[in-house]
Amino acid sequence: MECKNNKQIATITKHAEILANKISSHNRIIIVHHYDADGIASAAILAKALQDSGKTFSEISIKQLYKDSLNEILKKGEPKEDFFIFADFGSSHLNDIEDFFGNNFAIIDHHQPKCPRSDNFLNCWHFGLDGSTEACAASLSYILAKSLTKPEALANFAPLAIVGALGDIQDSVGALKGLNKAILDEAKYKGSIKITKDLRLYGRYTRPLIQFIVYSTDPIIPGLTGNEENTTKFLLANGFELKRNGVWLCYENLSFEEKQKLATALIIYMRSIDMPEWKINRLVGEVYTLTEEPVGPLKDAKEFATLLNACGRNNCPEIGFEICLGDRGYFYEQALSILAEHRKKLREGLELMLEEGLQEARHFYYFNAGSRIKDSLIGIIAGMLYSSNLISKEKPIIAFANQDDGFVKVSARATHELTEKGLNLGLLMRSCSEELGFDSEGGGHQIAAGAKIPKDKLNEFIELLDEKLDKKNKFIKH
Ligand code: C5P
Ligand code: C5P
Repeated sequence: MECKNNKQIATITKHAEILANKISSHNRIIIVHHYDADGIASAAILAKALQDSGKTFSEISIKQLYKDSLNEILKKGEPKEDFFIFADFGSSHLNDIEDFFGNNFAIIDHHQPKCPRSDNFLNCWHFGLDGSTEACAASLSYILAKSLTKPEALANFAPLAIVGALGDIQDSVGALKGLNKAILDEAKYKGSIKITKDLRLYGRYTRPLIQFIVYSTDPIIPGLTGNEENTTKFLLANGFELKRNGVWLCYENLSFEEKQKLATALIIYMRSIDMPEWKINRLVGEVYTLTEEPVGPLKDAKEFATLLNACGRNNCPEIGFEICLGDRGYFYEQALSILAEHRKKLREGLELMLEEGLQEARHFYYFNAGSRIKDSLIGIIAGMLYSSNLISKEKPIIAFANQDDGFVKVSARATHELTEKGLNLGLLMRSCSEELGFDSEGGGHQIAAGAKIPKDKLNEFIELLDEKLDKKNKFIKH
């Protein structure tokens, strides 16, 4: 792996070797992982390495790790004999995990840590890598997996680390960086990923051309985003056919020249409406194609991540896990229906938020979905609305949804502009939850974070959050 983060990656690798040695002295490993794309990809990478090195393993996927989940997890194994790997969470719970699992655990995580580095704790922040843009749980798991088994066994697993990174939107700056980039280069060298500079719009392989443009949110293309009629006229006026032999054309059906023609037409259009050059530049960036996948939702690494997210966030993480381990039959077919249903739920959730409108505190927008949107989807929907440009991005957005256990799920999203000014949603969620007490717990990243709070504490939480954001010097440096 050759990149400018070589030193950090070498130190991470050394740390991973210590962990791999610990793991190797156990026969049965229990992988406890987050239920989203990054968590599922991490679990599959680790499972493959463990399987290959002759270990018995089981995997448990959970929505979020809370202190009160630890006892249940402990019961899934033999506490003194088995080894527990926590992937894509655990950074807020090191001390509790130590109390429950002694020395028989590893935390592989990229969320902002609460405790300093230690032997059982592999978190990229401790090695100078930003856990929201330079390393995810799947890329860290890939490094650990390499210390657990022979490189040949993992030949097809580097792309999964990239899928994990894209699931967590770690390419939001236009390309992957840091450890993610090092693994990407390795996958490219081995031929399993192709990197192209192309339109960064979502759905290259799966969306008809019209929807490819209509659903563009990064950047928003005023007049075309969200407007099917205008987009159809735009495509026809620029000489594009929409169907071939009765079948809707998608972007990847176009020839190289046609793709260039479409990019040029979009850029000319965006300039004609005086869009700032920096926004126009967001249209083109790196896209990642999985060379060994057949055409479909697994061909583009970002779409692969959406499929895993759809499985995990709709109570079927095991289906995503099987797909990561290679299933393209029974489980894959099920995943396609889950994906269609997932998209429908996202559309409906977005419509609900638009219909009802957001409430506004002094320093953030908020929306309380109650039980009308699944707690597992509220964060994605809030993020979609936020990036749609239908609301101002001067303040972060906070969305609430009821959990099954009587708590309220909080999902918070911000922009890079706000985090650059010092807003740190992860720390904010953590400190508000801690102050609120009553089993509230929160954390995450600067740009995307979450919490759980008791239902009757919702108003108190909103006031506390606004108060904290009001003390601008602490969270937002102007
Ligand atoms: O737990 P984890 O780190 O895996 O989840 C990251 C979450 O943050 C994802 O749901 C992702 O969609 C969200 N995110 C976001 N915008 C970003 C970065 C991450 O909404 N720019
Ligand atoms: O659930 P959601 O997608 O909104 O989560 C955003 C980010 O906040 C994720 O990285 C998630 O792991 C993190 N989070 C957390 N603690 C919580 C809830 C979410 O660290 N209680």
